[in-house]
Amino acid sequence: MPALHMVILGRQGSGKGTQSERLTAAFGCIHLSTGDVLRAAVAAGTELGRQAKAVMDSGGLVGDDIMNGIVRDRLSRDDIAAGGVLLDGFPRTSDQADALEAILDELGHSLDVAVNIDVPIDVVTARMVDRGRSDDTLEAIQRRLELYEEQTAPLLDWFDARGLLATVDGVGTPDEVFERIVSAVERTRPQPA
Ligand code: AP5
Ligand code: MG
Repeated sequence: MPALHMVILGRQGSGKGTQSERLTAAFGCIHLSTGDVLRAAVAAGTELGRQAKAVMDSGGLVGDDIMNGIVRDRLSRDDIAAGGVLLDGFPRTSDQADALEAILDELGHSLDVAVNIDVPIDVVTARMVDRGRSDDTLEAIQRRLELYEEQTAPLLDWFDARGLLATVDGVGTPDEVFERIVSAVERTRPQPA
């Protein structure tokens, strides 16, 4: 099968990071989590990390230009050209979705599938409170979920209009959700001629 270019979508706490680990092992693509990139920058004390920390702790979104630049740089590297990519946490706004389409087009790739992990708000809130990451305060969780509804949920229609969207039920054990996602990817990705 050709290299997979995939986006994983869903509310904060829906299990994108959890499932991405299993999916990259199954499909051999590179996991690109923009949240992980930003947390690594915070830990390294870079200028990006200093700018991003306050935004992340408040539950806000880092600017589109910064995020689009990070993704452009990473997608241009040889490992992704060879193995494909699983994007987790990007795109989150319509500007980022347009940028992703343009970047992939420049690189001669196109998206194969966008999987939306569907989990109700009360369930994701409980999962994040239990996880206890530094931005998992009740205030920041609420802000992130509001921004998700405002800015990211509308992207589901954007992917659907391109025939790329597959929604799976994200309530169940991680193994059950993984099986649903693998089936959805196999159903939706273009089949080789
Ligand atoms: P990001 O790192 O993307 O965090 P997030 O959006 O808050 O999403 P999460 O990582 O919380 O959720 P997840 O779906 O990965 O769930 P997980 O697998 O961990 O972004 C952080 C911040 O960075 C943003 O707020 C923003 O400031 C900035 N940022 C990042 N990307 C950006 C962008 N593109 N533009 C602008 N700003 C950006 O699971 C959650 C918990 O549930 C875990 O404890 C897990 O063990 C548990 N769990 C998982 N699956 C199950 C299951 N099936 N059953 C029970 N528990 C489960
Ligand atoms: Mg995550």
